[in-house]
Amino acid sequence: MDFDLIVVGSGPGGYHAAIRAAQLGLKVACVEKGDVGGVCLNVGCIPTKALLHVGAELRGAKSAKEFGIDFGEPKVDLGGIEAWKQKVVGKQTNGVKMLFRGNKVTLIEGEGRFTGPNEIEVAGEKHTARSFIVATGSRPASIPGFELEEGRIIDSTGALTIGDEVPKRFLVIGAGAIGLEFADVYHSLGSEVTVVELLDQIAGAADADAAKELRKALEMRGITILTSTKVLGQKKGKKGTEVEIERDGKKETLVADRVLVAVGRRPNGHGLGLEAAGVEVDERGFVKVVNDHMQTNVPHIYAIGDVARAPLLAHKAMKEGLAAAEHAAGKSIAYDTVVPSVIYTDPELASVGMTEEEAKAAGYEVRVGRFPLLASGRASTLGVDSGVIKLVGDAKTDLLLGFHMVGPNAGDIVSEAALAIEMGATLEDIALTQHPHPTISEGVMEAAEHAHGRAIHIANRRR
Ligand code: NAI
Repeated sequence: MDFDLIVVGSGPGGYHAAIRAAQLGLKVACVEKGDVGGVCLNVGCIPTKALLHVGAELRGAKSAKEFGIDFGEPKVDLGGIEAWKQKVVGKQTNGVKMLFRGNKVTLIEGEGRFTGPNEIEVAGEKHTARSFIVATGSRPASIPGFELEEGRIIDSTGALTIGDEVPKRFLVIGAGAIGLEFADVYHSLGSEVTVVELLDQIAGAADADAAKELRKALEMRGITILTSTKVLGQKKGKKGTEVEIERDGKKETLVADRVLVAVGRRPNGHGLGLEAAGVEVDERGFVKVVNDHMQTNVPHIYAIGDVARAPLLAHKAMKEGLAAAEHAAGKSIAYDTVVPSVIYTDPELASVGMTEEEAKAAGYEVRVGRFPLLASGRASTLGVDSGVIKLVGDAKTDLLLGFHMVGPNAGDIVSEAALAIEMGATLEDIALTQHPHPTISEGVMEAAEHAHGRAIHIANRRR
């Protein structure tokens, strides 16, 4: 065998797996057909956050008047924004290449195709290995009739390039993480933004209260959100792209300069020759994973990340990658952990564990604690007067089951709740833990106090 392990794909899941396996002494290669770092580093998590930061700074400069500082009207240099985004991406992808070199992971550039259970062909050359990890990720889903056309109908990759001018009217189809984050970016840059969503709530499977709070905040910012709305088709009109929608049984036409299709992602399990290796792939393109070591039906071939199963999140892929790498190296760490999720809009929506509805459906007697950020001193110093922290607990055992937050730094604060759930913490544990004052994170403590009827800054329900 040429290698102990070949990882196919160098996104967050793949590069974590490759590096961990190399740390454990395996001779590792990683096959990559595109840019090292996959979707996340090149056209996903990292560049979107760079653009969201630009938007936040721009809005911050405009709103500073409220705090007594007038910067004047900010001048936007789209070339400068593009250069900043590229610089951030370059730094991250070069970092992964350096880590590969430092850990002696061989990078094989080109498209990989399995030619047998222990063999993969890349750019006409065959490589053999004892084990494989398939980490080929996913790609944007499409809607029939909305074929991509540069600058007019775009997917998340297209939306990362603002181009020569900010579109006046930006229409987003799909109010999931991608749709909402780009709605935020373009709105911050000055577009009129409309988001069209098929379901009756935004943010997918988020807790209903949190989704409502986020919707309210985005609408307050001036973003138009249409839920329970179907898109029927589009055509190029004189004044822009005409998108026909249907809501409340009535048809309407929305006109936009740019349309973003953000209706989910599809796993990349087909076209890899996995059938030659005997690995089962379902019709949607998910490689079937059979256990918590991420093994497929062919035990020496593992699958991780978006190509293996939902949720399609980078941090979940990373942990799955570590579990697969450890197992391939003869250890037995399994993947078994709660998965936080974050929508990085302003305000952020973050959650981990069960929603209130899920906990009730699972048969728990639920005890909920809430803390509105309107009552937070720190939020007040930031000029924030909306947002909420909601804890879902088990009334019988007091264990924390779920955390849902809309507000500043929710994406960082959620980690406290993830750890609490992993460690089996109760609402009482959280309520008794000193949180520094003044911080937004104090709200987690006070939401736990509220669940026990002893919050200080808000009314408690009568016991
Ligand atoms: P998504 O599945 O989260 O949301 C897509 C939304 O589009 C859903 O609410 C769906 O109901 C709606 N939709 C579907 N068809 C529609 C139609 N014809 N008309 C109107 N609405 C329609 O998918 P999204 O936002 O594209 O993200 C893809 C994946 O990437 C997700 O799994 C997401 O979690 C992940 N992701 C995560 C991020 C984060 O954690 N911050 C950022 C970006 C992506």
